[in-house]
Amino acid sequence: MTGLFITLEGPEGAGKSTNREYLAERLRAKGIEVVLTREPGGTPLAERIRDVLLAPVDEVMNADTELLLVFAARAQHLAAVIRPALARGAVVLCDRFTDSTYAYQGGGRGLSLERIATLETFVQGDLRPDLTLVFDLPIEIGMARASARGRLDRFELEGRVFFEAVRGAFLKRAEADPARYLLVDASQPLAQVQQSLDALLPRLLELARG
Ligand SMILES: Nc1ncnc2c1ncn2[C@@H]1O[C@H](COP(=O)(O)OP(=O)(O)OP(=O)(O)O)[C@@H](O)[C@H]1O
Ligand SMILES: [Mg+2]
Repeated sequence: MTGLFITLEGPEGAGKSTNREYLAERLRAKGIEVVLTREPGGTPLAERIRDVLLAPVDEVMNADTELLLVFAARAQHLAAVIRPALARGAVVLCDRFTDSTYAYQGGGRGLSLERIATLETFVQGDLRPDLTLVFDLPIEIGMARASARGRLDRFELEGRVFFEAVRGAFLKRAEADPARYLLVDASQPLAQVQQSLDALLPRLLELARG
């Protein structure tokens, strides 16, 4: 039995973390095993790498260092959490995954997409998400929501150009593969976003039950 791998993507403040809880509850209410996790992180060791990635520091982090740390954390997360969960047939709901690497390290930092693709295959083999929800919204709205949460992390301290590039990269990936990606208008009030997710539920249940 192989489970279902669903990722939630999108820029800062789009509502990924809020809505992953909502989706998890909905699926669990139908008796489905859901493993709720996030990147970077998802295991104690990978969460330590997350801290290194997110903490603002005086030293400028080299973009390749950032990219390799992201994939180092991902290798640990896949081995310890994601692959075992999928192997036992669970639904894995992951808050950010490799699309964020394409968006932040590719779009935002300007690293080569080919290099990211090489690492993707090196770390993941042929594992890709079955479905990716892209929460999209104008960056001012997302940044306002994120800053209302408090202290900004190393990425949130970036400027407008960076976040426009991040958003553009997510949209480009979603457009290129409509079978795998589903765009969610995350600028709507939460109740409406959750209505869109409810509308998706029958399809998710069908996929989850194989
Ligand atoms: N549709 C919405 N309308 C208004 N506020 C929202 C909406 N969705 C989420 N929020 C609020 O915006 C803030 C950011 O949401 P959340 O933490 O879920 O975003 P995120 O996508 O996980 O962001 P990050 O990438 O920074 O982790 C939270 O305070 C949340 O309650
Ligand atoms: Mg979040």
